[in-house]
Order: sequence, then structure tokens, then C-alpha cells
Amino acid sequence: MLALRDHTWTRVVLPVAVFICIIVFLAHRGRFSLHGDKHTREVFVFEYGDNCEALVNSGNWTSKPPLSCPGTPGLATCGHGPRDSWQWSAVALQCGASRQDATALRALLAHRWFVVAGDSIGRFFFAALLRLLSDNPAQQIVFGHRDFEYVLPGSIKATFLWAPYAPNLTAHFKAWDDGLAAPDAFVLSAGLWHMLHISDVQDFAQELVQLKLSATSFLAKAVQAPPVSYCSISEVYPPKLKTEDKREHLTPARVDAYNLAIANNDVLYPSGPFHMLDIHRLTQGCGPDCTHDGLHYSNATYDTAVQVWANTLRSLL
Ligand SMILES: *[C@@H]1O[C@H](CO)[C@@H](O)[C@H](O)[C@H]1NC(C)=O
Ligand SMILES: *[C@@H]1O[C@H](CO)[C@@H](O)[C@H](O)[C@H]1NC(C)=O
Ligand SMILES: *[C@@H]1O[C@H](CO)[C@@H](O)[C@H](O)[C@H]1NC(C)=O
Repeated sequence: MLALRDHTWTRVVLPVAVFICIIVFLAHRGRFSLHGDKHTREVFVFEYGDNCEALVNSGNWTSKPPLSCPGTPGLATCGHGPRDSWQWSAVALQCGASRQDATALRALLAHRWFVVAGDSIGRFFFAALLRLLSDNPAQQIVFGHRDFEYVLPGSIKATFLWAPYAPNLTAHFKAWDDGLAAPDAFVLSAGLWHMLHISDVQDFAQELVQLKLSATSFLAKAVQAPPVSYCSISEVYPPKLKTEDKREHLTPARVDAYNLAIANNDVLYPSGPFHMLDIHRLTQGCGPDCTHDGLHYSNATYDTAVQVWANTLRSLL
């Protein structure tokens, strides 16, 4: 009887217990790893090399608002909340990074023409430029899929070109290359539309290469090559995205893959023609609380991007 019970124990009870333990373990592991992935994703980051025009992207949002805004050196933007102030890193400060107020940026851009071409991220960047440079409230970003242009104080011409796909940008460079009057500085922003509507990172990489070739051809003919900046792809927060289509296609993993395509195809200086404007670092660093729709961020984010761009320009113009 005792022998039979032992037998039952080893043959039935033990395996069942082990089985239950394994199921419970796997269930938990699944849940924990899913949770873990969300919070410990190894976010792709751009390397800035040792050129100052890229190193001015290096810095962080401050966790505490500074005591005195105008008096604190090394701040690109300064606000009242924990995510309104952005501080340049030591290496950026060694490059001479400093906040450019309206007077300084107007002096830098006086009698010049700059173009921001791209998607809504470019348009938000353009809005931040207008906040700084314009003194006319009628000069605001125009929503909708269209171009617009203003003349700002200091005889600065400012154009926004709606060009959400890389081939749209390529087409502009071909026209400038063919002799159409060309601007003195460019900021480009494209990637999210491709991610949403085409979702093929290899295809995006090929489009970037075409864009690079057309820009290089145009820049080679210029007496003084105008600086061209390319915005890295913004961080996305799917829980806040407004449509099912966006939640499905605009994922942080895809953002990383698209940014990797920008990093790996010799589009960025010094191996390529474009200077980095690291919107990804600014948006990812600011985090989910800085975005209302999972895609577009606080004004401070784009105000900081303008400061980074202005400092890149200072070392190039
Ligand atoms: C800035 O942020 C980066 C990454 O987000 C981090 O590695 C670095 O330590 C931070 N630097 C400072 C001074 O907080
Ligand atoms: C952001 O800037 C725009 C102008 O570019 C302004 O209309 C809007 O009120 C600002 N938003 C906040 C929250 O300050
Ligand atoms: C941008 O490119 C797309 C696809 O090539 C095209 O359908 C669209 O008309 C272009 N948009 C502009 C503004 O040129």
C-alpha cells in the first residue's frame, strides 16, 4: 500500500506539481519581460563624433527648474517646470554652445533665406523659429498640408515647404540643382509618413540615399555650401497616438530602425552632407508627459531644437 502511494507520488503528483510550477513561471516571465521591455528598451542613440556642429546636440532636460533662468549659464531653454529647461552638456559648452536670443539669431540670419522642408515635425520647428524671430503675431504656422513664407525682422526670408516624404525633398534639391534660386540654410524632416504609410525601413534607406545624392550634387556646385540639417525621427508614445493605424505603425522600435537608417547610410556629416539635428534625443529625453498626441511635443522641445540648430549654424555660417 505504502509502495503504491510512493509510486503515485512520484508518477502523478510530482510531475503535475512541476508542470504547474513551469506554467506559473512562464506566465510570470512573459508578463515581466513584456513589462521589462517597455521600460528598459535600449533606445537607439546617435553618436555625435568630435565635431562641434554635432556636439551642440548634447545635453539634457534638467530635473529641477533652475533658480534663476536668465542667470543660469549653459541653458538652451528655461522654463518653470521640470521639463521646460534644457542644459547643454560639458562637451557642448566646450564647443561654445550658448543660448541665442532673437537679436543674436537675427544677426546670424540677416539678409539670408532659410527653408524648413518636411513633415509636421518640421512645421513645429518652424513655429519655434517664428516664436523667437517674428514680432508680428500674424506670422504663425499655417496648419494643413501646404507651403508658406514670411519675411522676418532683419530681412530674413523664412519658408516652410510641405514635403513629408524623402522623395519630396529630393525633388526640391533637383530643382535647386537645376538652377532655381536656392536658400542659404535648410532644415529637413521626413520619416514618420513613410513609417506610417509604407512601413519599410529598407525602402526608406534607399530614399535617403537618393536624397543624399541629390543634395550632394546641389551642394557641390555652390560657391559656399549652405548648411543642411536633418531632423532625427521623433520618439513616439503609442498609448497616446490618436488612431489605430498610428498605434500599429508608429512604434518606438520602428523609430529606432528608421533612425538607424539615417545613421548608417552616410547621410550625416562628416561622411554625408547633412548635419544632425537630434529631435529624437530631445523628444525621447522629455518623455511621454511632453506630448499630448504621442507624436508632437511641448513648445520647449522645439524651442530647444532651434537653439541647437542656431549653434550648429554659428559654427558653419
Ligand atoms: C544626460 O543624459 C544621458 C542619456 O540620457 C546620460 O547618459 C547622461 O549621464 C546625462 N548627463 C547628465 C549630466 O545628466
Ligand atoms: C506654443 O506656441 C504657440 C505659438 O507657436 C502658441 O500659440 C501656444 O499657445 C504655445 N503653447 C503653449 C502650451 O504655450
Ligand atoms: C510627395 O511625394 C508623394 C509620393 O511620392 C506624392 O504623392 C506627393 O504628391 C508629394 N507631395 C508634395 C507636396 O510634393
